[in-house]
Amino acid sequence: MARFDTPDGYFDAASSEPPHPAGRTALLDALETGWADPARLYGAARTARLTLDGARAQVAEVLGVRPDEVSFTGSGTQAVHLAVLGGLRARWRTGRHLVVSAVEHSSVLHAAELHELDGGTVTTVGVDRAGRVDPAEFAAALRPDTALACLQSANHEVGTVQPVEEVAAHCRATGVPLFVDAAQSAGRADLPGGWSLLAASAHKWGGPPGVGTLVIRKNTRWRSPLPADEREGRRVPGFENVPGAVGAAAALAAFRAEMAEEGPRLAALVEEIRARLPHLVPDVQVVGDPVRRLPHLVTFSCLYVAGEALLTELDRLGFAVSSGSSCTADTLRPSHVLEAMGVITHGNVRVSLPRGAKSTDVQRFLAVLPEAVARLRRSAGINA
Ligand SMILES: Cc1ncc(COP(=O)(O)O)c(C=O)c1O
Repeated sequence: MARFDTPDGYFDAASSEPPHPAGRTALLDALETGWADPARLYGAARTARLTLDGARAQVAEVLGVRPDEVSFTGSGTQAVHLAVLGGLRARWRTGRHLVVSAVEHSSVLHAAELHELDGGTVTTVGVDRAGRVDPAEFAAALRPDTALACLQSANHEVGTVQPVEEVAAHCRATGVPLFVDAAQSAGRADLPGGWSLLAASAHKWGGPPGVGTLVIRKNTRWRSPLPADEREGRRVPGFENVPGAVGAAAALAAFRAEMAEEGPRLAALVEEIRARLPHLVPDVQVVGDPVRRLPHLVTFSCLYVAGEALLTELDRLGFAVSSGSSCTADTLRPSHVLEAMGVITHGNVRVSLPRGAKSTDVQRFLAVLPEAVARLRRSAGINA
């Protein structure tokens, strides 16, 4: 394996995409050009400022927004927190009501919890069995005192793509800004239109970890929920990570360009997994929307198997996959996404193919999975 090839059997792109070589090269170059304080008035500082603004322009171009609408943050999570809390803060005179979907990422839900603790109110809009919100139901949750609405572009656990543009039209009609958490789709597909605030995360497209982007469209009201700081247009406090921003921008441009060909290839591999699974493994349920979904991701649940045991077994067999319902040390309950969908939460496995995933690896995965499941069921005394 060359140093920056995708590792064999790595099927967890939704957690983190392996680093894109274009991002790595750009990041290393920017360690030379982007170390000085971009706010200062001497040569090295001007170079850092130009380098940072070049990265901003590159991200803006790929995302289809204006450079002055883009800020770099310390993670996707931080971008989400700033978008949600800053969006709410700017509209407190209108009201303190927040609308979120039930299947948002924990970063959105935790920001909503903080808002509630602070005296605000939250309405959670449910989803159907495919994990999709109904735009009419979402619209019905909007009230005269709604300060902000949140809807992800696509779900991180099951890949279901949300009807963002339809929901955005309802939000526009009622004057409510819409925040879109686009961490799972940015770089893979064009962004939907109509939103006011957006967050994304560089390590999901092969950029460096610890870099996110916050996009605030022109004429959107936003007020920082944090102490004042001059950096990043007063939107993100702290000294800028210029090399990280440059690596993120270069990786995004390269990744997005490659997805024109790579996207359909990964989609065909996922289609094969979706089609063959029910014939290979008894009592398996493929979850998520069968059509309106992220092309590189498939999630399934195996009845009578503990998710964690299956992930460990697959790791032993050389596959890195993850599960929404694993009971890790800090999440002793099943996935809120699967629960909201009303589907099986047992033995849940999420396969998300990174760029360059090999067909031979997918075939090997399908070859070993049935016996891995059968073994775990036998050890639990189930002869399925
Ligand atoms: C939908 C979604 N939003 C936000 C995040 C947070 O991004 P980060 O890992 O950069 O903090 C993630 C990462 O898992 C995600 O999947």
